[in-house]
Amino acid sequence: TRTIDLAVIAGDGIGQEVVAEGLKVLDAVVSGQDVTVRTTPYDLGAARWHRTGETLTAEDLASLRGHDAILLGAVGDPSVPSGVLERGLLLRLRFELDHYVNLRPSRLFPGVGSPLAAPGEVDFVVVREGTEGPYVGNGGAIRVGTPHEVANEVSVNTAFGVERVVRDAFARAAARPRKKLTLVHKHNVLVHAGHLWRRTVERVNAEFPDVTVDYLHVDAATIFLVTDPSRFDVIVTDNLFGDILTDLAAAITGGIGLAASGNVNPDRTSPSMFEPVHGSAPDIAGQGKADPTATVLSVALLLDHLGYGQEAARVEAAVAADIANRGTATRSTSEVGDALAAAVSAAVPA
Ligand code: NAD
Ligand code: IPM
Ligand code: MN
Repeated sequence: TRTIDLAVIAGDGIGQEVVAEGLKVLDAVVSGQDVTVRTTPYDLGAARWHRTGETLTAEDLASLRGHDAILLGAVGDPSVPSGVLERGLLLRLRFELDHYVNLRPSRLFPGVGSPLAAPGEVDFVVVREGTEGPYVGNGGAIRVGTPHEVANEVSVNTAFGVERVVRDAFARAAARPRKKLTLVHKHNVLVHAGHLWRRTVERVNAEFPDVTVDYLHVDAATIFLVTDPSRFDVIVTDNLFGDILTDLAAAITGGIGLAASGNVNPDRTSPSMFEPVHGSAPDIAGQGKADPTATVLSVALLLDHLGYGQEAARVEAAVAADIANRGTATRSTSEVGDALAAAVSAAVPA
């Protein structure tokens, strides 16, 4: 019997609700197979912070390192100052566990409504750098609150960090039918980082000669995501551009409720972490309104990462079928989870 040893950080707001459904589907897809899922819940997020003042201790981190993977719902709550949990918990996990590939696939499932009049066939993946850029916290402020305040956020881009994510993106592009990689940056203004990214892509391209490369400034990339999203295959970009582009990518492919992600450590020196792209959605939390599909698709990415490709495919197929038949009826979070769990169970091969 194989075991999936999973750490679960449900977190805040709708994180709790959607993770419950993700686990439901995970259990259903492995049921009757020679696979056991062992889950360990971690009490991390707003409640823990209010109680103890802690976001993520050294003990939490050491314990998390021992699992095969992490499933995360969302963190962040209006009762906690903005940035405390986002930086102290979520980003800290991505940095400490060296999740340098933030994988964010976008696919327009048949039957999904897109706000675009003519989206065409949309199936691309954003490889967002996950450990550098303006996210590192290399900033500071002086004269805070005065008319002469200076507030700096420095984007850190290292040759090592850029090269490893670019190489990963090339490998992903080479494995896809269209073999196309688009670098998105802003090298007309951010000349130091931008040219490092551009030179790195040019150099690594020599290792992947069958991959076609093009480049877009990030502002223009937002135009094409709306006017011609089918032109994209693999996008590689920095941490902040990737954050922004992937909310837009979600919006054009059925909404944030469907967008999945993996914070991947390709070297497998620590567990990778899978989570919906969306946040804790305080505006709908506790009402059973959140769509758990993004979390369920994140579970599919998790299964794929751990070598359960067939199970991952079954989860994706169940989601695709569910989406195709959704129509306009509103279902609660758990109704969607129940339907998906039933669909993956029914699909178990004899
Ligand atoms: P958000 O993604 O939480 O919400 C944006 C909008 O999308 C809201 O109207 C929300 O109701 C809706 N939405 C989100 N997920 C949905 C779902 N599954 N089904 C239906 N509707 C959904 O972004 P925000 O409002 O900018 O941030 C709220 C909090 O979450 C903040 O504290 C933020 O820092 C945090 N956040 C956390 C993560 C994460 O944990 N990965 C990601 C983004 C934001
Ligand atoms: C995301 C979120 C996070 C990010 C925040 C909450 C730190 O927006 O996962 O997209 O910016 O990466
Ligand atoms: Mn985001």
